[in-house]
Amino acid sequence: MSQQLINIQPLSQPVQMPDEMATFSAEVEAEIDRHLAKYPVMRSAILPLMFIVQRERGYLDPPGVSYLAKRLNLRITDIWEVATFYSMIHMQPIGKYHIQVCKTLSCKLLGADKITRYCAEKLGIKVGETTADGRFSLSEVECLGSCGTAPMFQINFDYHENLTLEKVDQILDSCHDA
Ligand code: FES
Repeated sequence: MSQQLINIQPLSQPVQMPDEMATFSAEVEAEIDRHLAKYPVMRSAILPLMFIVQRERGYLDPPGVSYLAKRLNLRITDIWEVATFYSMIHMQPIGKYHIQVCKTLSCKLLGADKITRYCAEKLGIKVGETTADGRFSLSEVECLGSCGTAPMFQINFDYHENLTLEKVDQILDSCHDA
């Protein structure tokens, strides 16, 4: 079984690379090398590398995708397949504060829709949009594994649980530019 996994090779279809390819500092390249060294199959490092590219470029832009394809010896479509599966990978510029409201069962039953609607009204945007000043983006996501403290949302890497409209006000008002 493990032998079979190690033998996985990228498919041979031609790869259409965009002209521009992202470049990174020697420090970031070394970080990428460290991740690649952890895996017997290079493509297994796709998610950690995506997070690095996203961190460095703000989102997974075409030059970043092109870089990943080259670095991992994969097709552009292999990169997009993974990138489009995960809600934490962004293919458009994202706000400094990314509000991700859980819309799954426990949260839904305990008022997720109300929380989403309130955020949208307060920020003047719809789900999937970013405020004009680039400060907030609003998304709905599947279960974030915090069902016992529903309703909840995640902002960047922080969870905010047992939400009420008053709590949402406090949390959003405390999101200041650094
Ligand atoms: S249902 Fe919302 S965190 Fe699980």
